[in-house]
Amino acid sequence: MKRRIGILTSGGDCPGLNACIRGVARASYSLFDTEIIGIQDGYAGLISGDYREMKQSDFSGILTLGGTILGTRRTPFRNMRVIEDDNVDKVKAMKENYKKMRLDCLVTLGGNGTHKTANLLSEEGLNVIGLPKTIDNDIWGTDVTFGFHTAVDIATDVIDRIHTTAASHGRCMVIEIMGNKAGWLTLYSGIAGGADVILLPEIPYDPKAVAKAIERRAEAGKDFSIVAIAEGAMTQKEAKMKKKERLAFRQETGFNGAANRLAAELQQMVGVEARAVIPGHVQRGGTPSAYDRMLSTIFGVHAAQLIADGNYGQAVAMIGNQVGHNPLSEVAGKTKFVPDDAQAVKAARAMGISFGE
Ligand code: F6P
Repeated sequence: MKRRIGILTSGGDCPGLNACIRGVARASYSLFDTEIIGIQDGYAGLISGDYREMKQSDFSGILTLGGTILGTRRTPFRNMRVIEDDNVDKVKAMKENYKKMRLDCLVTLGGNGTHKTANLLSEEGLNVIGLPKTIDNDIWGTDVTFGFHTAVDIATDVIDRIHTTAASHGRCMVIEIMGNKAGWLTLYSGIAGGADVILLPEIPYDPKAVAKAIERRAEAGKDFSIVAIAEGAMTQKEAKMKKKERLAFRQETGFNGAANRLAAELQQMVGVEARAVIPGHVQRGGTPSAYDRMLSTIFGVHAAQLIADGNYGQAVAMIGNQVGHNPLSEVAGKTKFVPDDAQAVKAARAMGISFGE
């Protein structure tokens, strides 16, 4: 039986998207009679009807390629059912285009927002399979997402390189690592890069405690320090505020990013020379690591197997070191935060790494 598969990548890009697309395609071509339709720029292309029939050769030579050959866009879930100025009923349009493409199923590669819309479409009666990509590693129900470990490698390399300049100048370097809600990337790269202080969105910090940690290092004869701070880290004072209140507070106080603010505060409090470093989207760029190529591939192959079995409405996942899946309805709307008793957090604490508490 012939199956027509639509594929899209949605949300922030990350290394491993193309490797995963290739895994889905190659396994599908070998498991069953397959036609693949590439949907451009994520859900935006599904809404506007921007798609193209793919050839088998389109999936060659993309294993090591960063970004996504299909393009991506952020199409926020919260607006999916909202009719905006363009007067388009987005859900209706997506269902119509699915029909127009004569799809048997839709494969969506993305993070939390992507999974929420995938679940919405599944509830609307479409056959959907979700694949877990994000450098944030915060998708519920999977031990790991593809893209995460490449980003850990990149962020760790940044911290390594900052070490030598920090040591030469006797400075305190505050490195801002991506991750607005979840701190996995900061935690892993912070430990791997030997940071002295690690600040996560999940563990609100006291700037005075961070200053103390740096002073303690100075007392021990170490005149430089490395602070890894997640872009979404907040102070204990801010954590007590509602989101709106916090945003207003930040606006009033001239907040210019987590690392910039903390570097200025430390310079004042400790009298040390401090610098903020923001690697930003570099953390999402370039070729996937060997691990992510492998992970993306086996995730993609699992999606093809689910299609072969007609097992839709699933989110592919790594569960206890085995590739498996969870119902999209269980994954949608949940976030995998760093728990306070995470092994890595406990290990870091045991080594004297400060979380600014
Ligand atoms: O979700 C991945 C991520 O890189 C986050 O870590 C970061 O907060 C966000 O995307 C940045 O989004 P954008 O690329 O839209 O600026």
